[in-house]
Amino acid sequence: MVKIKKVFLITLILAITVLAGCGKNETAAEVNNEQEEEKLSIGMSFDSFVIERWAKDRDIFVQAAKERGAEVNVQNANGDVDTQREQIAYFIQKKVDVIVIVCIDSDALSDVIKNAKDAGIKVIAYDRLINNADIDLYVSFDNEMVGTLMAQSLIDNGLKGGKVIMVGGSPLDNNVSLVESAFEKVMKYNSVEIIDRMHCDGWRAELAADYIYSNRDKLEECDAIMCGNDNVASQVVNALAVQRTAGKIMVTGQDADLEACQRIVEGTQVMTVYKPVEKLAQRAAECAVAMAEGKEISGPDVGVINNGRKDLPFVKLQPVMVTKENMDEVIIDSGFHSKEEVYLNIK
Ligand code: BGC
Repeated sequence: MVKIKKVFLITLILAITVLAGCGKNETAAEVNNEQEEEKLSIGMSFDSFVIERWAKDRDIFVQAAKERGAEVNVQNANGDVDTQREQIAYFIQKKVDVIVIVCIDSDALSDVIKNAKDAGIKVIAYDRLINNADIDLYVSFDNEMVGTLMAQSLIDNGLKGGKVIMVGGSPLDNNVSLVESAFEKVMKYNSVEIIDRMHCDGWRAELAADYIYSNRDKLEECDAIMCGNDNVASQVVNALAVQRTAGKIMVTGQDADLEACQRIVEGTQVMTVYKPVEKLAQRAAECAVAMAEGKEISGPDVGVINNGRKDLPFVKLQPVMVTKENMDEVIIDSGFHSKEEVYLNIK
């Protein structure tokens, strides 16, 4: 009993001491809240997590930000532009320090970004450029290089003078036009005819399968299919397999998804493009925290890009072509996928 009373007394004295130190109107809880609020906060809105890579981007970004003392509120817009706009409005209301956006529509965020800027919040376009908006930084890969690498690998495999079909990603994603225009340049230079093209709205890869099933005549004519990413390639190769032409028509992709790497070693996809998302996410988190602290972004990877409204810094990372030949060196040695996973179906 005496012991309990003693503990109670000590607690009471401690509580009084804490409260006394808080000034007239503050409670201990309020002091705690203030300390919480001092933590840097980042709001991050993703297009969706359907594609394999984005969960990696998220996890590495959140971890890297945490290591630098910032908290990240991650939101998933599920491919819906209005939802993404609401999420940005919510971050503004929450008074976060920085908003990081993987945009769904590169042209649909100018006004909400203006609201963020008016509230003194920094904005980073992650992986996809946001056009005509007052953003502070763009962090991505060299997307034109992605298209060039896709094209180059087809030429290396004998497409010169041949025929190709382009099955691209969402036309609202700024990366898509960058990849495609660079791809087309190499095709033109090598006299390759683009016999047809389509886009998968919202990056919905099942639209690519529909296209393959309903365009058999064009498939008979073509030597290669340029697929906007590995998820699209997945649907295309499955549809080709049904028609027994998988491995006969060359297929490209990007992201180095595990299944794509498996298809490459199995021979149904010619190449993919490895984009080290861990580097991207880490660099973006480092920049987000630096910007929240009012620092400038600099480094050998920083260039300048114009988004139709202004010149802004562009942290530009390099993508790497992956084929059967360099699979082990690029994908396995880097730890992106394990040897067992990639060669799972090879006896
Ligand atoms: C990215 C790709 C990704 C695609 C679909 C593009 O903007 O650059 O890596 O596969 O979006 O999410």
